[in-house]
Amino acid sequence: MARRKLIAGNWKMNGSRASAVELARGIVEHVRKTPPSCDVLVCPPAILIEAVAEVTRGSPVAVGGQDCHTAPSGAHTGDIAAPMLKDAGCGAVIVGHSERRTNHGETDALVRAKAMAAHAAGLLAIIAIGETLAQRDAGATAAVVTGQLRGSLPEGATAANTVIAYEPVWAIGTGRTPSTADVAETHAVIRREAAAILGREQAEALRILYGGSVTAANARELLALPDVDGALVGGASLKVEQFAAIIAAAGGA
Ligand code: PGA
Repeated sequence: MARRKLIAGNWKMNGSRASAVELARGIVEHVRKTPPSCDVLVCPPAILIEAVAEVTRGSPVAVGGQDCHTAPSGAHTGDIAAPMLKDAGCGAVIVGHSERRTNHGETDALVRAKAMAAHAAGLLAIIAIGETLAQRDAGATAAVVTGQLRGSLPEGATAANTVIAYEPVWAIGTGRTPSTADVAETHAVIRREAAAILGREQAEALRILYGGSVTAANARELLALPDVDGALVGGASLKVEQFAAIIAAAGGA
């Protein structure tokens, strides 16, 4: 089953209106010149989504949020609802990023409810999972990621409305990555577990991204692994040339 790769940039809490527009323009210009053979998504900070969406409109670059609330509206000061993301021009939202799980105490149950809210708003839910270094050292990686997958995948999840991002917590922003053998093994574990939850057909079509210190230098090797269907890129998504090189690596160009 051929799965179309997805290269997603997670801009985190970086940028100004001017720098975000410039970065988006650079990426749009690049994909116009070199049409990608993968899906391309950028996830700016919420307040910059509209400005970025204005730049990407009509281009192959989609826009996503970095988080959403579980409710469609209501008394939730400071939060952003999934329908608001949709209204601002998003097609997707990341839920359960490890920085949310750690900094905001987000549990699998909450992530699951957020993914459900994303689906209800018509957004692609990118559900992030991954083990800490202590869990890896304890040999618990497979148990942790399968547990997070079971706990975070909502009812109604399909390969069309959901993407899984496997991000070892210790690889995020550190310049360290697991060996390609370890990435391959964990992605295979995730797909097997997805088959047990969603059925074989959906699991075969489900895109599983790798994230954590993906760069222009290591992208080709990681993206060549059979169960790696794209990348969730943090730091390297903030530079047009680096993000462009990762997009090229996904296309085998
Ligand atoms: P990084 O971040 O590429 O800077 O390691 C990835 C992520 O947190 O999604």
